[in-house]
Amino acid sequence: MKSLFFSRFLLLLPWVLIVIIVLDIDSSRAPLPARAPRGGGAGSGEPRSAAARPPPQRRPEAALPTIYAITPTYSRPVQKAELTRLANTFRQVARLHWILVEDAAARSELVTRFVAAAGLPCTHLHVPTPRRYKRPGLPRATEQRNAGLAWLRQRHQHLPPPQPGVLFFADDDNTYSLELFQEMRTTRKVSVWPVGLVGGRRYERPVVENGKVVGWYTGWRADRPFAIDMAGFAVSLQVILSHPKAVFKRRGSQPGMQESDFLKQITTVEELEPKANNCTKVLVWHTRTEKVNLANEPKYHLDTVTIEV
Ligand code: UGA
Ligand code: MN
Repeated sequence: MKSLFFSRFLLLLPWVLIVIIVLDIDSSRAPLPARAPRGGGAGSGEPRSAAARPPPQRRPEAALPTIYAITPTYSRPVQKAELTRLANTFRQVARLHWILVEDAAARSELVTRFVAAAGLPCTHLHVPTPRRYKRPGLPRATEQRNAGLAWLRQRHQHLPPPQPGVLFFADDDNTYSLELFQEMRTTRKVSVWPVGLVGGRRYERPVVENGKVVGWYTGWRADRPFAIDMAGFAVSLQVILSHPKAVFKRRGSQPGMQESDFLKQITTVEELEPKANNCTKVLVWHTRTEKVNLANEPKYHLDTVTIEV
């Protein structure tokens, strides 16, 4: 009796397996026409099973607000090193659009080449700082940040409704943790966080009580309405677009007041959104690169090759 059952089982087994295989092939074919062919997808030799799976992880990423990082930059011996460090960070951030603004009368070859090889979405602009403003004691990069803002507004004029986005001013010499971008990504209007190695202290930070900014921990000009470095805040694209006149001003602006002068045009202290665990974590550092020693650099070109540094 047992052996009869076993022989029937063996006889049926191949048929059962064939039916299972046929059903499997059918089900993996069925969803194919539902997806529009994407860039040579049809017949490109992609494994079938990939098409049968639910849409890949691209979906959630597409919903992420774009982070626009405006970086003023100027020609000097360390420029390429600074930009390399920055690009290495930015390349690891999803949906980041880099707005690189050269302080120059024209785009330089060095930055143009750099941008082409940077491997991330990048807009390369330029605007020179008028000579009279290139003096110690005067704020830097005013014209460059404004050029970035103008580009952003111009671009979104033609793209209604505005895509979700967050703007942030990323100087080329600071140090940015990847966690910082996760924090700023959820900015609704204007968000703030601590900045390390700034204001003559180990850090500066917004003081937070019951989830609201109530003051500033700083060692320098505590009377500033927003006692915060350029690296310490982000603004939603909606706020930038709904305040089309908000820009950085040369007239009457002193170093260290640019942030306050700009922020008071678009928000109030009460409205600020504290990030980085209620402003108790340093995720960005106001590092400054030492001036390089070129004392032994020859006056005239001596090497047999010309090298970009
Ligand atoms: C501090 C603040 O962190 C800056 O955001 C602020 O612009 C600056 O003070 C100021 O005095 O206005 P600090 O480290 O002293 O920063 O300034 P830099 O890092 O030398 O310059 C800020 C940005 O402007 C950098 O991205 C730099 O590449 C750029 N820059 C500087 C120019 O585009 N042109 C210049 O002539 C100088
Ligand atoms: Mn700096």
